[in-house]
Amino acid sequence: MTPEESVTPEESVTPEESVTPEESVTPEESVTPEESVTPENDAAAPTTVAVIGGGQMGSGIAQAFLTAGCAVTLVESFAPDRARERVTAGLEGAASRGKLAEEVSAVLARLSVHASVSAVPAGAALVVEAVPEDAGLKAEVLRAAEGVVGRGAVLATNTSSLSVTELAAALGEPRRFLGMHFFNPVPASRLVEVVVAAETAADVVETARAWVDRLGKTGIVVTDSPGFASSRLGVLLGLEAIRMLEEGVADAAAIDTAMELGYRHPMGPLRSTDLVGLDVRLAIAEYLHDTLGERFSPPQLLRDKVAAGELGRKTGRGFHDYR
Ligand SMILES: NC(=O)c1ccc[n+]([C@@H]2O[C@H](COP(=O)([O-])OP(=O)(O)OC[C@H]3O[C@@H](n4cnc5c(N)ncnc54)[C@H](O)[C@@H]3O)[C@@H](O)[C@H]2O)c1
Repeated sequence: MTPEESVTPEESVTPEESVTPEESVTPEESVTPEESVTPENDAAAPTTVAVIGGGQMGSGIAQAFLTAGCAVTLVESFAPDRARERVTAGLEGAASRGKLAEEVSAVLARLSVHASVSAVPAGAALVVEAVPEDAGLKAEVLRAAEGVVGRGAVLATNTSSLSVTELAAALGEPRRFLGMHFFNPVPASRLVEVVVAAETAADVVETARAWVDRLGKTGIVVTDSPGFASSRLGVLLGLEAIRMLEEGVADAAAIDTAMELGYRHPMGPLRSTDLVGLDVRLAIAEYLHDTLGERFSPPQLLRDKVAAGELGRKTGRGFHDYR
C-alpha cells in the first residue's frame, strides 16, 4: 500500500470551500429600522452596533455589520483615520468584485469613527470589543461601554482566548455579556464562535446566534474555556509547525504545503500565523500556556520574530515574506 492509500478520509480535514470576502455576507437581507433593539424584542437585526478597537479585527467586524445594513460606530483610540481607511478599503474591494449591493458611499454614510468610548450611542443594540488581547484593557473598555449603553444592549468580546467569565466580572450586568469570536479576515470568514460565560443569559445567546445568522455566517456555541474550540486547536497546530521549523524538519513553505495539500487545509499553519499576526498568536499562546499547560509553551523562534518586529502580513514579513 502506498502512503497515499493508507490515508483514510477521517485523517484528512474537511475541505473548507474558500470564500471570497463578502460572499458570506447577505446585504440583501437589510435590517429592520428599529432604533432601540433589545435582546428580548428583536433577535433578527442589530440596527446600531458599536465596535471598539479599529485594528485588523475591529475594522472587519465593522465592515461585516455595515454591509448587513447596520449603522456602526467604530471606536479607535490610537489610529481612527487608519481604521476608517481599512473599512473603506474593504468595502471598495468588495465593490470592485461586484459583491456590494449598495454604493460604497451609501454604506460609509452609516459609519462613524471616534476616538473615545463615550461616543458609543446609548441606543446601540450590540457592542463588540476588539481591542488587543489584554484582560485589563478589555475589562476597562467593557466597563466604560456598559456605562454608556442602555440596559437592553448586548456586550460582546472578540477575545481569541481569554476567559469571558473573568472579563464579565468587570460588568454590572454579566447576564448580557458573551464572546463573539470572529475570524480573520472577517468579511470572508464564515465562522463566529458564540462563547457562553458562566452568567450569560440563554436569551442573549440566542440573540447573538440570530445576529450571526443575519451576517450570513455560522455560529457555533461553545462553553467558555481557554482558547474555546478554535484557538485551542489552531494555535496548537501553529506552535508545533514553528517548533518543526526550529528543528529543521522542513522549511516554512514545505510545512504549509504539507497541510494544504496533504490535509486540504485552505491555509498552512505558518501562513495562518502570519495572517493572524505573530504578536497576537504569542499573546494567546502565553495565556493558553498559563491555563492549559506546557503543550502551549511559545517556541523561542516565535518570541524572537515578535521581538524583531516580524509580525506577519501586517508588517510584510513573518514566516513568509510579503514585501
Ligand atoms: N488577528 C486575528 O486574526 C484575530 C482573530 C480573532 C480574534 N482576534 C482578537 O481580536 C482582538 C483584536 O485583535 P486585532 O488583531 O484586531 O488587533 P490589532 O492590534 O490589529 O487591533 C487592536 C486595535 O485596538 C486599538 N485600541 C487599543 N486600545 C484601545 C482603546 N482603549 N479603545 C479603542 N481602541 C483601542 C488599537 O489602536 C488597535 O488599532 C484581540 O483580542 C485578538 O485576540 C484576533
